[in-house]
Amino acid sequence: MSIIKSDILILGSGIAGLTIAIKTAMAFPNKNVFVVTKADESESNTKYAQGGIAVVWDKLDSFESHIQDTLKAGDYINDLEVVKMVIEEAPECLMKLINWGAEFDFDKKGDLDLGKEGGHSAHRIIHHKDITGLEIELTLLDQIAKLPNITLLPYHFAIDLITEHHTEGKKIVSEDEPINCYGAYIMNQKTQSIDTYVSSVTIVATGGIGQVYASTTNPTIATGDGIGMAFRAKAKITEMEFVQFHPTALYRPGESPAFLISEAVRGFGAYLRNKEGNRFMLKVDERAELASRDIVARAINIELLKTGEECVYLDCTHLDLTAFKNHFPNIYEKCLSIGVDVAKDFIPVVPASHYLCGGITVDKKGKTSINNLFACGECSRTGLHGANRLASNSLLEALVYAQNIAEEIITNTNYLKEKLVQVPEWNEEGTTAPDELILISHNRKMVQTIMSNLVAIVRSNERLEKALDQLNYLYQDTEKLYNKTKLSPQLCELRNLNAIAFLIVTQSLERKENKGAFYSLDNL
Ligand code: FAD
Ligand code: SIN
Repeated sequence: MSIIKSDILILGSGIAGLTIAIKTAMAFPNKNVFVVTKADESESNTKYAQGGIAVVWDKLDSFESHIQDTLKAGDYINDLEVVKMVIEEAPECLMKLINWGAEFDFDKKGDLDLGKEGGHSAHRIIHHKDITGLEIELTLLDQIAKLPNITLLPYHFAIDLITEHHTEGKKIVSEDEPINCYGAYIMNQKTQSIDTYVSSVTIVATGGIGQVYASTTNPTIATGDGIGMAFRAKAKITEMEFVQFHPTALYRPGESPAFLISEAVRGFGAYLRNKEGNRFMLKVDERAELASRDIVARAINIELLKTGEECVYLDCTHLDLTAFKNHFPNIYEKCLSIGVDVAKDFIPVVPASHYLCGGITVDKKGKTSINNLFACGECSRTGLHGANRLASNSLLEALVYAQNIAEEIITNTNYLKEKLVQVPEWNEEGTTAPDELILISHNRKMVQTIMSNLVAIVRSNERLEKALDQLNYLYQDTEKLYNKTKLSPQLCELRNLNAIAFLIVTQSLERKENKGAFYSLDNL
C-alpha cells in the first residue's frame, strides 16, 4: 500500500474522463494528471456508441430546433439554461474532437453526413459508420499517449472517494457542513494493493449503470461505481428514477450485453412490426418509429404484454441494401452472423436498459455538492436530459461538460493549490480472502433480477415496495460480506449496484407524476 500524489485525478477513461485529461494536461504541462480505469484502457460505454453525436451543423437546422427537440423528449423538466448551453457550445466542442483527429463520415457533396434518430426534427447526427464511439475513444487515447504528464492506469479500480470521513480524526460530516474530496482509494488489480491517491482535484467519470438490470446494452463495466462512491460520500444524487430503455436491442436470450440495433436504423427508414407484421407504432405516435425512446420502448412493452410474444421486429427489407451496408456495416455483419439477412429477414428486437438520465448532481461547471469533486458524463445529472434523453445527446453532453470542467480547473487555479491533509491508508484489518465468489455473483444476479422484474419500464408502488424489501435483505447480506472479506472489484461492484438499485427504487417511490422514462401505474 502506498500514497500517490497527483494534481488531477480522473476516474474513468470514456469520452468524459479522457477529454478532461487531454485539455488539462495540455494547459498544465508541469502538473500530473492521473487517469485510472478498471478494465483495459478503451473499455467503456463510449467504445460501443453507434448512432453518433447530435450537433446542429446543417444550415437549414437551428439551435432552437435542437433545443425544442431536447425539451420535448425530456418531457419539459430539463434545465433550459443547460440545454441552451450544451447545444450552442456543441459545434465548437465537436471541432476540437475533429482537430484531435476524429474522422466522421461525409456525404456525396463533401459535407459531414448527418443521420437522423428518434425525437429529432432534423438530420443532425454526426457519425463514423455505426461505430462512432470506437472512433472517438481511439482518437482520444491517441492524444493521451502524446502527453507525457498523463499517467493512464488500466486495471485500477476506484473503491471510494476520500472525504472527511477518512481524514485523520475521523470527523463525522453532518448534512449541512461542506464536505471536501482529497482523492480516492484505488486498487491495483494486478498486485491487489489498495493505494491512497491524494489529489488536489478529483473527477468522477465512471459512466453508466446498465448492469443493474439483467438485460442491458451496457458492457460489464457499467456498474454505477462513481455514483455508489459519491452516494457513500454524501454527494447530492437526483433523478435516478429516469432510466432509459433503448427500444431496439437485438433479441438473443442469454447474450449479455445485448447488442444494440442503433436508432439510426429507424432514422434510415426501418419499420417496427409485431409478429402479425403490423406497424404498431403508427397508432401510438404521429412520429411512429421515430417517436422518442421512452414512447417507443413503452409501446413495445405493451405490445409484448398484449401478444405474449418475446420480441418485436425491425423491418429493413425495403431499404437500399448498399446504402445500409455502407452506413451500418457492424450491424449488418452482426445480424448475418446469427443468420439474419437484413435484405430479406426481420431483425428480432426487445427493449433493454441503456442509459441513466439522473446521477450525481452537478452545476453548469460540472461541480458536485462536494468541494474539489467534479462529475462528468453519464454518471452526472446536469439537467440536459430532463425525464428522458434525446438520442445522441449523451456523447454531446459528456464532450461539452468535459471541456467546461477542464476550463474551470484551468482558469480557477485555486483548485490546484496543494492542500495539507493527513489521509490514512486503507485499512483492511480483520478481513480474509473470500472462500467462494459465488456468494457475490449470486447476489449480483439477484439485484439484476429484482430490478428487471419489478423496476423496469412500467412500475407500480406495490412492485417498488416489494423490490425495496428484497434489496434491503441483499444489502444487509452484502455488508456482512464486506465487513469480513478482503476487498475485490466484484464485491465493490456488488455494493455499488446495491446502492444504485436502492436509489432508483426510492427516488421512483418519491415521484408522483409520470414523466418521460418514468411511468408508474399508480400515477395514471
Ligand atoms: P464511459 O464511456 O462508460 O466510461 C466510463 C469509464 O469509467 C470506463 O473507462 C470504465 O471502465 C471506468 N470505470 C467505471 N467504474 C470504475 C471504477 N470503479 N474504477 C475505475 N474506473 C472505472 N450516446 C450517444 O450520444 N450516441 C450514441 O450513438 C450512443 N450509442 C450508444 C450505444 C451503446 C451500445 C451504449 C451502451 C451507449 C450508447 N450511448 C450513445 C451512450 C454513451 O455511449 C454513453 O453515455 C457515454 O459514452 C458515456 O461516456 P462516459 O465517459 O460518461 O462513460
Ligand atoms: C443508438 O445508436 O441508437 C444509440 C444512440 C444513443 O444512445 O443516443
